[in-house]
Amino acid sequence: MDTIIVRGGRQLSGEVEVSGAKNAALPILASSLLVSRGCSRFTNVPRLRDISTICTLLSTMGARIDAHEETIDIDASGVSFLEASYDLVKTMRASILVLGPLLARFGEAAVSLPGGCAIGARPVNLHISGLEMMGASIKVEHGYIYGRARRLHGADITFDLPTVTGTENLVMAATLAQGTTILRNAAREPEIGDLASCLRRMGARIEGDGTATITIEGVEELHPVEYEIMPDRIEAATLMVAAGVTSGDFLLKNCPFGNMGAEIGKLQEAGMIINPVDKREKSGHDALDVRVVGQRPLAGLDVKTMPYPGFPTDMQAQFMVLMCLARGTSVITETVFENRFMHVFELQRMGADIEVEGRSAIIKGPQKLSGAPVMASDLRASASLVLAGLAAEGETIVSRVYHLDRGYFQFEKKLQALGADIWRETAKAV
Ligand code: UD1
Repeated sequence: MDTIIVRGGRQLSGEVEVSGAKNAALPILASSLLVSRGCSRFTNVPRLRDISTICTLLSTMGARIDAHEETIDIDASGVSFLEASYDLVKTMRASILVLGPLLARFGEAAVSLPGGCAIGARPVNLHISGLEMMGASIKVEHGYIYGRARRLHGADITFDLPTVTGTENLVMAATLAQGTTILRNAAREPEIGDLASCLRRMGARIEGDGTATITIEGVEELHPVEYEIMPDRIEAATLMVAAGVTSGDFLLKNCPFGNMGAEIGKLQEAGMIINPVDKREKSGHDALDVRVVGQRPLAGLDVKTMPYPGFPTDMQAQFMVLMCLARGTSVITETVFENRFMHVFELQRMGADIEVEGRSAIIKGPQKLSGAPVMASDLRASASLVLAGLAAEGETIVSRVYHLDRGYFQFEKKLQALGADIWRETAKAV
């Protein structure tokens, strides 16, 4: 298994480009299943482990996939095996995103039930009940979700709570359903907007994405498209924190600035300078080049994770590192997932003063972090340990970096390009 080794203390400088958004690419690649004829081309797709996993899943179903660099061509006309096996779903919960498209196009699907994961129980009951309201009959047995439907029909569905992939699954299902579907209390994450833009380009009729009420009028068929994935706001914000923890000063290119209000507001409150310098015209996504400056002293913050447009749970672990270095007491409250503090124990081993009380972590700073061997427990936690390593005195060895590789494209290489003393060691097979 690979490890990442960081020697802390370097101030980051130079420039770095944000990659395409994993959480937009996953539903968009799954949406290719809705197209029964022709080949779609997706560009700016980040080359990540989760992307390979969804491509493997689609190709086991019979889709033809051709991937080169950040472009992926998918022709799903030959799909005939309508199953997502446990082996794939257990490595990536977002595999559930094929359920809606398969039911909509084929009226049949078998998708392994994702289990719990390191950050909480993460049920998919809202995906299932929404599809049932659209006319699917669903049985859960032997660890699988078996769905059938003659043709899905429109429905008026109110989510008990906003779910990102749940909203995406139902939006995709509704594009080919008979009649109109209204999704209320829908999630408003920008990645759902990116999916909706792609589906509209395919011929779908969707309104209201980005608000809590999304209306989808079903059509008979969708056609292939060429579509560029939006830049990744979580990667962008993680790199901003890297500037904060190293007192760095660099240019972040292709940054989805307009979708990062909560994170940027908090970084500015902590004392960082974040200024757009240029509008990048070749992207259709309003991406900007942004100058990011971290300076000491940083001020402590109170942060509460919330669905978008609130502060993203996917940035909670990385902000905690920044708070360890900030003056005073900070409180981070996690309201989205029940068990997302696994990184706390590793940060404590590096000298952080953090106490967990229920859903809140109380962080006292500034603390000097010292390098240590640490273990990643999930995707965003692994990024937080690398960030802690950048700020720590001495050497930090992060193991289980396969978590990091699920969601950050060549993270250590991007940091290296900014001047960090960081490298990967690949374990030799014994
Ligand atoms: C997505 C993101 C993930 C992010 C999360 C929250 C993708 C591929 N993943 O995950 O990176 O951390 O949003 O922003 O986009 N819930 C239920 N029943 C359901 C579905 C969800 O109770 O049927 C609960 C969850 O347990 C959680 C909350 O709803 O407490 C939000 O989860 P959800 O938005 O569904 O997360 P994901 O879509 O899995």
